[in-house]
Amino acid sequence: MSTREGKAPYEDVLMFLAICVIGGAYCYYSNREIPPFMNSLDQQQASPSVATKSKPLKASDHFSDHKHHLLLAATGSVATIKIPLILHALSHHTNLSVRLILSNSARQFLQAQSAEQPSLEEISKIKNLDGIYFDEDEWAKPWVRGDSILHIELRRWVDLLVVAPLSANGLAKVSQGFSDNLVTSVIRAWDFSGLIDGARPGVKLPYDSGKSAKDLEGLPEEFRAGGRKGIIVAPAMNTAMWKHPVTEKQLAVLEDEWGVANGGWFKVLRPMEKMLACGDTGSGAMRDWKEIVRVIEQRLELGGDADDDVKKG
Ligand SMILES: Cc1cc2nc3c(=O)[nH]c(=O)nc-3n(C[C@H](O)[C@H](O)[C@H](O)COP(=O)(O)O)c2cc1C
Repeated sequence: MSTREGKAPYEDVLMFLAICVIGGAYCYYSNREIPPFMNSLDQQQASPSVATKSKPLKASDHFSDHKHHLLLAATGSVATIKIPLILHALSHHTNLSVRLILSNSARQFLQAQSAEQPSLEEISKIKNLDGIYFDEDEWAKPWVRGDSILHIELRRWVDLLVVAPLSANGLAKVSQGFSDNLVTSVIRAWDFSGLIDGARPGVKLPYDSGKSAKDLEGLPEEFRAGGRKGIIVAPAMNTAMWKHPVTEKQLAVLEDEWGVANGGWFKVLRPMEKMLACGDTGSGAMRDWKEIVRVIEQRLELGGDADDDVKKG
């Protein structure tokens, strides 16, 4: 049956319902930048383990692999985009195993949004990279007695931790002992005494134990080797953040109280001056990634030269 203008009576009702559905959808999505089905970030964050190659880490499984263990971490600075370059430059070392931690902010910089910012899926294919970890991985399954605890296993596993970049937020948290994410939990659980983890067979630890021969005498074999694990951080932030008076106070903890120069376990690669990503010029830029690679190679005695790697392409 048709009405005036040849329309069926239910057509007006259908039109009204369609307007309600479209209007409702618009109101919902206008509160988000991108509808979820178009947002690859949402998809990657929903499955944090997408880039993690390994099963739950047990440091003891890797005790006798005769490899140097580098834990690389990035916190929420734009300099996180140098992580793929650092990983590539280290990928030819046959005696190196690398694991990567990305803070939730750092992760935002590696979402395949530009050629120099590949996806985590791509990054996970780089040779020597044996795992990528996020905060969620600490809570991958409800913990029960007997399960491993990721930040402790990473601490046991690692010989050298390099946080490059360390954000202003990260610097503040580390210097004050906060441990509210995976990176800061590893740092907070660090064996600063050098008397908990010890050396693994055939692998020299990167720093001197700071103990006298007499102190070492009565210790078990793995500690008599005399080395100590270490943490290197490369802060990266806006010049105003770097110049803020609170920065010096925080650096004093890391360099004076915990610094390797004073018999400790911490080394700060202070930022350099250049035009920053935000357009400001001044100090605060992360040290050149090639220099960071060089420091890692020297500390772990890997041999090699980052400049050569770059020349080779
Ligand atoms: C696009 C963008 C770039 C940023 N770059 C920096 C930076 O270079 N250094 C820094 O300290 N913070 C930077 N921030 C701010 C940090 O991401 C923010 O303080 C965050 O909470 C740090 O978290 P995390 O240290 O726990 O990873 C930036 C934020 C945005 C949105």
